[in-house]
Amino acid sequence: MTNDAGTSSDISSASIIASIKDKGWAQVAGQEDRLDMLREISAKLCRAFVPCIGRESYFKTFPEGELHHAPVGRKAVLGHSEGAYNPVVTPPDLCFFLSIQTIPDDAGGQLTLADGERMLDVLPTPLVDRLRDEGVIYTMQWEPSRWRDELRTNSKQEVNDLMACRADVDHDWDGDHLILKWHTFALRRAWSSGREAFANGILAHLPAIPSGIDDADNIYCRVTNGLAWGNGESLDHSEITAMIQAHADILETRLMRQGDMIIIDNTRILHGRSKAAQDVGRELVCRFGLRASQL
Ligand SMILES: [Fe+2]
Repeated sequence: MTNDAGTSSDISSASIIASIKDKGWAQVAGQEDRLDMLREISAKLCRAFVPCIGRESYFKTFPEGELHHAPVGRKAVLGHSEGAYNPVVTPPDLCFFLSIQTIPDDAGGQLTLADGERMLDVLPTPLVDRLRDEGVIYTMQWEPSRWRDELRTNSKQEVNDLMACRADVDHDWDGDHLILKWHTFALRRAWSSGREAFANGILAHLPAIPSGIDDADNIYCRVTNGLAWGNGESLDHSEITAMIQAHADILETRLMRQGDMIIIDNTRILHGRSKAAQDVGRELVCRFGLRASQL
């Protein structure tokens, strides 16, 4: 187990910040008072917290609203920036992941990290140029429980009002199902380094995994999602394959023991999850924040 940001008796926010500014992330070794450590360190590094992202089931054991469990699933989730597909939630600068149980090394289900700056070195230049110039359009169809949770709205009228002032979002209804199209960035300038990074939700928003990708059946996708270039043209299989391959080339799987915490710059480091042979449960508690002004 590496410990790049301090020992269990010497957790300093300065060493965590130094590690994040160097490589985009930091790891802190396990503590007795695990949730207290998560709250304390995140409070030092953030000026505010983003309300829990996603569906209510992820955070119902933490009703105060700023902590939640990572989604449970056996499929691999490819690297993404948190909040990148949601047009109404401010994406966090920092993500905190606390391991509340040790997952055996060979069980799968571990947190994965990929450096979005390195992605740009590995991807073909024409693809990087297009990502930079056009951005992407995320398309999604959400059932009523999903749009209520994701958009924090209770009625179709509220959704209509919310979207009325947005030039970057198109919305429509199929009965009670909301159809959203959001045109947004695909690259960002990482706050911790000042350099450009592949920082988006593309790989976790795929409608299907292209044939030819290893173990495609064990990678998360959702048929009602869609991805297009900024001009409306669909991303083709070779472009998606190039992105999945680049991500695989630089992927790092982090083995976390109980109480370990990993903190990432969400504008640089993509996070995901490796596939699991069996249900490993809700092993991660997450908190998402907007960085403090001194960072
Ligand atoms: Fe995530």
